[in-house]
Amino acid sequence: MTACLICGAPINPFLSFGKMPIANGFLLPENFNKEFFFDLQVGHCQKCQMVQLTELVDPGMLFHENYAYFSSISVRMARHFKQFADYVQDYYLPKKNPFVVEIGSNDGIMLQNFMQAGIRHLGIEPSTNVANAAIAKGVNTVVRFFSEETGEALRKEFGAADVILGANVICHLPNIHSVLQGIKALLKDEGLFIFEEPYLGDIVQKISYDQIYDEHVFYFSLNSLSWLFNEHDMEIVDVLPQNVHGGSMRYAVGRKGVWPVKPAVHEHLAEEKALGLGEADTYERLRQAIHRSKEQLVYLLTEIKGQGHRLVGYGATSKSTTVTNFCGIGPDLIEFISDTTPGKQGKYSPGVHIPVLPYERFKENYPNYALLFAWNHGEEIMDKEEDFRAWGGKWVVYVPQVTVI
Ligand code: SAH
Ligand code: TYD
Repeated sequence: MTACLICGAPINPFLSFGKMPIANGFLLPENFNKEFFFDLQVGHCQKCQMVQLTELVDPGMLFHENYAYFSSISVRMARHFKQFADYVQDYYLPKKNPFVVEIGSNDGIMLQNFMQAGIRHLGIEPSTNVANAAIAKGVNTVVRFFSEETGEALRKEFGAADVILGANVICHLPNIHSVLQGIKALLKDEGLFIFEEPYLGDIVQKISYDQIYDEHVFYFSLNSLSWLFNEHDMEIVDVLPQNVHGGSMRYAVGRKGVWPVKPAVHEHLAEEKALGLGEADTYERLRQAIHRSKEQLVYLLTEIKGQGHRLVGYGATSKSTTVTNFCGIGPDLIEFISDTTPGKQGKYSPGVHIPVLPYERFKENYPNYALLFAWNHGEEIMDKEEDFRAWGGKWVVYVPQVTVI
C-alpha cells in the first residue's frame, strides 16, 4: 500500500484510471512510439484526509522548456488575477516598500499587476519558456523549482517577503513539506502565504474527475490543509471560494497566532463535514458517479457520430487528456481539438492522438457538435461563440452532467 505524502499513513486508493500519458504532453507522430505512460490512481488518507495520487511522475518531465500551458491564454483568468492582485494590495500589503513573491508565476499573469503598480516582486518559475514570456513583459522572474533550499537562498538574496502567492501550483508539488519550509524561510514573521487551488469539494460535487491528472498530486480540502499547516506551525486564517477552474478555494495562511482566524474558516470546515469529505463512503460514491459519467458520455458521443454528425473538441486542456484516455475517446469520434495555444497546434493529444488544430479551423467550418473540454472557461467561450450556436451548432458538456446545450 502507498504511504501518504503528507503524514506517512497508508492511503486508501479509491479510483484507478489505468495507464495515462503526460496530461500536457502534446506530441508529434515521430514521438508516438516513445510516449510515456504511468498508472493514474487516486487515494484518500484517513489520517490526515489528504486526497492524492498514488504514483508520481518526475516533475522534470512535466515542467520544462516546452511547458504547454501559458496562463494568459484566458482573458477571464487575466481579469481574475488582476482582482486577486488588487485584493492582496488592498488588504495585505504594507504601504512601505512591500515585497511580493509568487511561486509558479508562469507567464506573469498575476505579477504583471504588481509590476504595473511599481511594487517590488519576484516570480519563481521552473518552466523556461513561460518564465521567458514573463521576463519579456518586465516581470522579475527566476527560473527555478521552489523548495526549502530555494526559499532560503532567495531570502539571502532578496530579503523577506511580505506576501507569498501561489495559484494552481501548490497542489502540483510532491515535496510540499520542503515547499512549506521554504515559504517559512522566505516569509516575514507577520507575512501571509495566500494561494488558491482547485477545491476537492467542487470535484466531489461536480464529479469533475478530469481535474485528476499527473500535475495535480493533491486535491486539497480545508481539513487536509489544516492538518498539513499545523505540522509546520502555521494556520489557515481565511478562506474564499473562487469561481475559476471549475471551483477553487483561496487560502490565507500565517504563522500560528499571528493573524485572527476569520469565521469563514470554521464555516467551511463545517461544510466539508456535512459533505462527507472525511469519509471513505464519499469516495466510493464518487468512483461510481465517475464511471456512470464515463458511460453516459461515450454513449452520447457514439450516438452523435452514428447519426453522421461532425464532432470536434474545444480546448486541448490537460483535463481533456484524462477524459479522452479514460473514456477511450479517440480520432474515430473526435475529428480534431480546436485550441488557441500555438505550441499545441499541429500536434496530437496525449495517448489517444487526436489532432490539435488552430481555432481558425473551428471558425471556418463549424462542426455540428463541439465537446467542451475547457468547460471551466465555459462562460467566456459560449459568449465568444454565439455565432456557432446561431448557426445551429451544439455544445456537449460533461460537468456536472453529460448534457447537450
Ligand atoms: N499560476 C499560474 C500557473 C499555474 S500552472 C496560473 O494559475 O495560471 C503551474 C505552474 O507552476 C507552471 O508554470 C509550472 O512550471 C510551475 N511549477 C511547477 N513546479 C514548481 C515548483 N516546484 N516551483 C515553482 N513553480 C513550479
Ligand atoms: P485550461 O482549462 O485553463 O487548462 P488545463 O486543463 O490545461 O489546466 O486550458 C485552457 C485550454 O483551452 C488552453 O489550451 C487554451 C484553450 N482555450 C481555447 O482554445 N479557447 C479559449 O477561448 C479558451 C479560454 C481556452
